Amino acid sequence: MNEAVLILIKPDGLRKSLTGNILTRLSETKLEIVAAKMVRVSEELAHAHYAHLENESFFPDLVRYIRGELHDRRKTMALVYWGNGAILKCRQLAGATNPEEAEATSIRGSYGRITTAGLYENVIHVSGNQEEAEREIKLWFKPDEVIVPLYPLKEITKDKVKTNLWT
Ligand code: PPS
Repeated sequence: MNEAVLILIKPDGLRKSLTGNILTRLSETKLEIVAAKMVRVSEELAHAHYAHLENESFFPDLVRYIRGELHDRRKTMALVYWGNGAILKCRQLAGATNPEEAEATSIRGSYGRITTAGLYENVIHVSGNQEEAEREIKLWFKPDEVIVPLYPLKEITKDKVKTNLWT
């Protein structure tokens, strides 16, 4: 079944010049990229993305990490991959969330690390399931930035310009 998945190449991945390498690895999935952009992550976006982890001790560092404050790279690359079994295919290539537990040849196993403060710097984020993917894609992308119709939209007209919004 066709499904969408949000991929983030995190600031450590960008800092280590891994973008090309990660995209090449992901191309093995034969999935289609249906959205892509560089994002300067705001405090609000970081908090919303990781809202379910707000009470974790590592949450403040997680926010600083995704905003690029730990790597002198104030940017994250956001992509949406789309196709059959997209979530499982991308998560298999990414490897386990904990880079020490990730298979050695996976993206996180190859390039991730755990900081002395205990934060996973695992190079890439991959949505965990379809509900998470929908929530995250709607958070990171506007409807008109995604080239296939993933979720229901509503159209608004302002100053004679038509714009789509997620419902
Ligand atoms: S999972 O496996 O992705 O579903 O994990 P989840 O619980 O949803 O997300 C955990 C995110 O927090 C990041 N993180 C850590 N998790 C656990 N322990 C430590 N110490 C830790 N440090 C960071 C972890 O990398 C997950 O973020 P993403 O962006 O998904 O990798």
